[in-house]
Amino acid sequence: MNQQEILNYKQAGKISIEIKKYARQLIKPGMPLLEIAQKIHKQIEKQGALAAFPVNLSVDDIAAHYHPTLEDETKAQGLLKIDVGISINGFIADTAFSMDLTPNQEHKELIKASEQALNNVLNSLKQNQDLTLNEIGETIQNTIEKKGFSPVINLSGHGLNKYEIHTSPSIPNYANGNNKKLEDGAYACEPFATTGIGKIYEGAPSNIFQIIEPKNTRSPTARKIFDYIWKKYKLLPFSLREIQEKFGSGTARIALKELEQAGITRNFAQLIEKSHKPVSQTEHTFIKKDNEIIVTTR
Ligand code: CO
Repeated sequence: MNQQEILNYKQAGKISIEIKKYARQLIKPGMPLLEIAQKIHKQIEKQGALAAFPVNLSVDDIAAHYHPTLEDETKAQGLLKIDVGISINGFIADTAFSMDLTPNQEHKELIKASEQALNNVLNSLKQNQDLTLNEIGETIQNTIEKKGFSPVINLSGHGLNKYEIHTSPSIPNYANGNNKKLEDGAYACEPFATTGIGKIYEGAPSNIFQIIEPKNTRSPTARKIFDYIWKKYKLLPFSLREIQEKFGSGTARIALKELEQAGITRNFAQLIEKSHKPVSQTEHTFIKKDNEIIVTTR
């Protein structure tokens, strides 16, 4: 990773910190998720950045991958996860925090559990860059279990690459026995804590899409929409909501269905906790370079 790339990662991180601050002040119980999504999206573009993925606004047992459509009337409530992606020239900051919009004390403890797990990993990594993936996962698991909760074991952190949000390796949220160490590169670590059994399943479509195979399509409208997405996002995820705003609600739905059926895009599934218990999430992006750990998103 060269100096210019590091600067891009740092710039994306800096903007992500601003956006998280903005979101914290913006979000109030009962506010439509649609309004929150639209305002955060605008704020990201106002900062001269691109949303590396549509902001995830996931309530309670939905661990991740919720983004409202134009017709969605869901309100901010419960234990809300705000997962933000910022791209500067394809270099990504991926970061998340949780807000409790209820008086429930257990939610607060759940949020602390994922925060502490992440802090413990980052502090340990700063002292010893040679931690194995197993040791990172073990740190997360122990921290969360000590507070009486479970880590979500089939969600994990990941590597980051230019215009790529999920690259190997997976950074586990439990001791998974992988004795590999992190090489130099960019990574996202994202502990999830729950009062449930700690596993997620794939639920309804999220209406967060991604181009998986850029190729031609017959319908002129679908092609126009494809061109818009490809030019702006390449392989980064985008939302049905944005396409609805640009091209009209019904047109966007039909075109995205066509693109999906032609194998050009895919629709991510919502990730839901199996026992339908609330989930908290905290995430930071960091760079490992020459025995140094630089956290870009705090
Ligand atoms: Co992530």
